[in-house]
Amino acid sequence: MHYTNLQNSDPDIYNFLKKELQRQQENLEMIPSENFVSIAVLEALGSITTNKYSEGYPGKRYYGGNQYIDEIENIAIERAKKLFNADHVNVQPLSGAPANLAVYTALLDIGDTVLGMDLSHGGHLTHGHPVTLPAKIYNFIRYKTNPETGLINYDEIEKLAKEHKPKIILVGFSSYSREIDYQKIKQIADEVGAITMADIAHIAGLIAAGHLNNPVEIFDVVTTTTHKTLRGPRGGMIMCREEYADKIDKAVFPHLQGGPHENIIAAKAVAFKEAMDPSFKEYAGQILKNAKALEKVFRERGFTICFHQTDNHLLLLDLRSKNIDGKTAQEILDKTGITVNKNVIPDDPASPMRPSGIRLGTPALTTRGMKEAEMEQIANWIADILENPEDESLHMKINQEIKSLTSHFPLYPELSSEE
Ligand SMILES: Cc1ncc(COP(=O)(O)O)c(C=O)c1O
Repeated sequence: MHYTNLQNSDPDIYNFLKKELQRQQENLEMIPSENFVSIAVLEALGSITTNKYSEGYPGKRYYGGNQYIDEIENIAIERAKKLFNADHVNVQPLSGAPANLAVYTALLDIGDTVLGMDLSHGGHLTHGHPVTLPAKIYNFIRYKTNPETGLINYDEIEKLAKEHKPKIILVGFSSYSREIDYQKIKQIADEVGAITMADIAHIAGLIAAGHLNNPVEIFDVVTTTTHKTLRGPRGGMIMCREEYADKIDKAVFPHLQGGPHENIIAAKAVAFKEAMDPSFKEYAGQILKNAKALEKVFRERGFTICFHQTDNHLLLLDLRSKNIDGKTAQEILDKTGITVNKNVIPDDPASPMRPSGIRLGTPALTTRGMKEAEMEQIANWIADILENPEDESLHMKINQEIKSLTSHFPLYPELSSEE
């Protein structure tokens, strides 16, 4: 691997980076929240901007020497505004969880009510799960999906909104596979005087590419991560209407964070530029086609698809009909070279540590250049493995086939040419 200085100064870390590179190259990465950034994004991440303190915002810093950092942060902000059609953008949140916490801090008082999606129906921990700090500070009420339609239960949102009068209605998910009707939620919020908040962490790239509905144009506040379908560095971002800008900025800094990570902000700017390129629209379209190709095979092979189908980059499979739990499935697939994650299914009767489902997605494999034909092959491998969990010789055979497949879709060849 081409990290000569690191190799000399810290062989321990170097060796594990090399192993991790090989793992990423030889396995099929199907965790829907993961992706492979470009070399340009990696270079910005590893750049000298990591040396700089820049507490505050462009033009209003608490430290000197920020003339170039200001330019970089402004470029990131302007590109994000253009990409999502946003009024105001804060690119400083360190990640998705701090971005959500900043919105709660900015817009809620202690004890205020938030209406958000139930975790087992696709919602996220940071939307008020009892194990998190916000759940101790605010009052979270949860809505679910409708088992008949597989869609968010908009009638339930309306009923709960009228009953509880939430300050924020929050929509967003990490394992829900359907499109969202933001207009409908906005109407409900307007009826009860609630602020609308969307967390588009998973689908930001698909929205930026114009393939999914864009809540930024409809909602008051939108949070996202930048490292999932958007294919940027690990980080967060908040977009909002101008009227909330001051409160949101103050919540990020100084209420919750200190100096922003300007190397990550530089890398965000690079990723946003990439996302504006026409090739990104094509990439995001292929993510969707690939998810549909997986869905088709899983349906044919008798798997239960939660929420009935996928409209985005991910699938949540209910494995109960295959008599295997999500934890065992994840472990067997991992050994075979396919990385997925165990996941609860709606109202899962099993425990979160051994849930009934797995979640899998296509953003990373699509970045490698894989298309529908490869997806069909991979879905069949997954089905073969999960239907024959004890057959180790089958697993070994598939593992060899996976190594052969991945060798045809090189990942970071510039990094791995021999020293
Ligand atoms: C919908 C959603 N929001 C927030 C987060 C938290 O993001 P992070 O892990 O960057 O803090 C995630 C992460 O998976 C997510 O899926």
